[in-house]
Amino acid sequence: MKIAMLGSGFIARFYATSLHAQRRKDFIYTVYSRNIDKAKRFAEDYHLQHFTDNMEEAINHPEVDVVLISLPNHLHEIAVSACAKAKKHVLCTKPLGRTAAEAERMLHLVEDAGIFAGYLEDLCYTPKFLKSVASIQQGSIGRVLWTKSREAHPGPHSDWFWDKEKSGGGAIIDLACHCVEISRNFIGKDIKPIEVMCWADTQVHPIEAEDHAIGLVKFENGAIGQFEVSWTFRGGMDLRDEVVGTEGSIWLNSFLRTGFEVFSTGKGAGYVAEKAEVNNGWLFPVGDEAHELGYPNMFTDMFDAIENHREPQETFYDGYVVNAILDAAFVSAKSKQWETVQLPIWRGLTGQTKPSVYKEYDNDHWLVKEELLPNGDKKVILKKKTTGDIVEVSTLV
Ligand SMILES: NC(=O)c1ccc[n+]([C@@H]2O[C@H](COP(=O)([O-])OP(=O)(O)OC[C@H]3O[C@@H](n4cnc5c(N)ncnc54)[C@H](O)[C@@H]3O)[C@@H](O)[C@H]2O)c1
Repeated sequence: MKIAMLGSGFIARFYATSLHAQRRKDFIYTVYSRNIDKAKRFAEDYHLQHFTDNMEEAINHPEVDVVLISLPNHLHEIAVSACAKAKKHVLCTKPLGRTAAEAERMLHLVEDAGIFAGYLEDLCYTPKFLKSVASIQQGSIGRVLWTKSREAHPGPHSDWFWDKEKSGGGAIIDLACHCVEISRNFIGKDIKPIEVMCWADTQVHPIEAEDHAIGLVKFENGAIGQFEVSWTFRGGMDLRDEVVGTEGSIWLNSFLRTGFEVFSTGKGAGYVAEKAEVNNGWLFPVGDEAHELGYPNMFTDMFDAIENHREPQETFYDGYVVNAILDAAFVSAKSKQWETVQLPIWRGLTGQTKPSVYKEYDNDHWLVKEELLPNGDKKVILKKKTTGDIVEVSTLV
């Protein structure tokens, strides 16, 4: 398929590098940038046939099958609207909207136009993440109870991110959109997020938005998803996830410690990895950065989905749910209360309850805990069904 790239900045280049790598079939035909010199440079760098400083021209170009939105957050809706009008398939970077209301309008636009719409949530496509989700779905860690996802770095690379009107917020909108969708995938995307509690503050930068936030998202089945996001973290980009289930745990470190460590005196002033702050001393590069961030798997899923008339793993609907959770986080950060996730459109399960905590040990007891001690004794802690008393049974060696 032939792609129109909207935007020629940071993410457009990551996407282009992924799309044009390793003999892929789908390629960028044209690029739109408001600055024609930047459009030209991008077209030269990626060997494109066409470039323009007119967004409509790029979208409506007869050679173009799919439009890829790599523009700042306040331009996503305008671009989606133009794609719907032109009846061109659309892939949009994260976050889908600045608010759930904006995301909901985008969802209606694509569904009413009958076009394919994919939500480019790359961190739900990293090799480690896909393998973790598959193993959770096979029951490897039992029922998921708690997920934790962190994205923290020293702050983004362009002016508009720091302007609350254009971005829709600070670290929450920029980074928690990833963390929240990571948690939804681990917990189950059909499980309804119901409430959010969030702390947010502006600790370092002279901006209106928050540069640090920690939040808890409560799900209808009793699971909890925690996000930790920051534009104040020093030392690179910290991308980590944890999942705790009834039968096991998973820890993922996607960026700062991937098993690739280099020491350099800093004589060769090269690029190390995204948001790396130094290029001397002990360094933590990333082998194939695009792959470790999920871009190639993401595009494979998107283009396969278009070709096979199926939904991609990450849809505009997912982007809308993420925005609804983030809206509740912003309200909670102000109210200091648990706030309800407002989801007028919910397509998942309803009426889920927290599973029972009771596991039978024998006719008279519930099992609380079993443990093997260093001396080889086995302890069993039980709760009497009739009285509720907690008792301990020890098997001596
Ligand atoms: N991991 C990810 O998925 C990821 C990473 C980074 C950025 N993003 C997202 O990608 C989008 C772009 O971010 P970026 O990092 O590439 O930003 P950037 O500032 O590097 O690039 C933005 C592009 O949009 C253009 N632009 C800016 N203001 C414009 C305007 N008013 N009219 C027309 N064009 C304008 C710029 O010239 C540039 O080409 C954002 O929505 C961001 O959240 C996603």
